[in-house]
Amino acid sequence: MTTARLLIRDLAQIATPTASEAPARGSALREVTVIEDGFVLSASGRIEALGPMRALPRLEGDVEEIDGRGLSAIPGLVDCHTHACFAGDRVGEFALRASGATYEELHAAGGGILSTVRATRSASETELAEVLALHRDWMLQSGTTTFEAKSGYGLDRDTELAQLRVVQAAGGVPTWLGAHALPPEFAESGADAYVDFLLAEVLPEASRIAEAADVFVEQGAFGVAQARRYLSACAGAGLALRLHADQFTELGGLELAIELGARSVDHLEATGERGVAALAASRVVGVLLPASALFLARPMPPARALADAGAAIALATDLNPGSAFCESLPLVCSLACTQLRLAPEEALVATTLNAAHVLGRADRKGLIAPGYDADLVLLAAEDWRYLAYHLGGPVVDSVVAGGRIAWPGRA
Ligand code: NIG
Ligand code: FE
Repeated sequence: MTTARLLIRDLAQIATPTASEAPARGSALREVTVIEDGFVLSASGRIEALGPMRALPRLEGDVEEIDGRGLSAIPGLVDCHTHACFAGDRVGEFALRASGATYEELHAAGGGILSTVRATRSASETELAEVLALHRDWMLQSGTTTFEAKSGYGLDRDTELAQLRVVQAAGGVPTWLGAHALPPEFAESGADAYVDFLLAEVLPEASRIAEAADVFVEQGAFGVAQARRYLSACAGAGLALRLHADQFTELGGLELAIELGARSVDHLEATGERGVAALAASRVVGVLLPASALFLARPMPPARALADAGAAIALATDLNPGSAFCESLPLVCSLACTQLRLAPEEALVATTLNAAHVLGRADRKGLIAPGYDADLVLLAAEDWRYLAYHLGGPVVDSVVAGGRIAWPGRA
């Protein structure tokens, strides 16, 4: 937080979702206000005013200025689904998949998520904090000013809690994903016994740190009844609810998300017409992760059908070592336009306002509007749609977070 004022002037464009209500859906999902030749003024970390340069008032006192010529501004991006806190890597598995092994086969053979669990359990809390700080910097350089990160690579009390503490200390939004996979020590007693353990031994402390709970509903992970029991107890402890569902198979996770009034249901690569209609009729946000579908060479989620049916959708990276080693929301926006057939406007709303809603922060993040946090991405282009247009390119010129230049750290 800073008391100084920051003026970004002569911006070629300022683009922000128009919608005042979150999550935006239907025509509001495409509503983006664009101001040409504009300024954004912030004070004490909040946006004070914005508008065309001709409306810029005379400013008295100390004002730091950024020359926005040739640049465009969008709200700081919000990554509402990551697994950014992990140790080790899975580059060996990546190479095996390149020669034909599937993600499910590697998981069934004790690799996959469980190989990252072994590495994360072996790391100290300081080492986890160092790796997360590196990933957070990658995200920031890609324009992400607010990120969520899940636990789920500990699967024991101490490591799950360590992951949550590390995410919180790094300024992230912590989500407890205790029910991510069955750890080896529960291989014999089974998933019900593991859920018993999570609720009795981990939830009381996890619910003091995390803001939400998440569960992986999938064959080989957790079934709907186990997920219902886990999430109901988490809701009772005050946590918002999220689900990984319909990634490989439709098991009923989407319907459970609606039944429990979850904030979001994430993945949806396998969701069919009935799931699309059910989600559209609900308040649950569908979080789409096209980088994960691309990374695993899986079908893309039915984004166009969801948006057309009136569902609220958000987009996120799913940053993790196995299914999406990708921290770039601009790349995700690009995939949204080329693979999911979303408009650049829909991609912007889905990575700002709607993602902020998934994290319970739509009252102060996700818009460039007076009173909102002064989190901005300055794009290295006069047309803000380069965000999605320049596939994998260096689209981010600089990033402002809380009214300060957070990257590249100009003096
Ligand atoms: O969202 N599908 C479950 N969990 C993660 C992947 C985690 C991993 O492979 O390490 C996901 O894709
Ligand atoms: Fe995920």
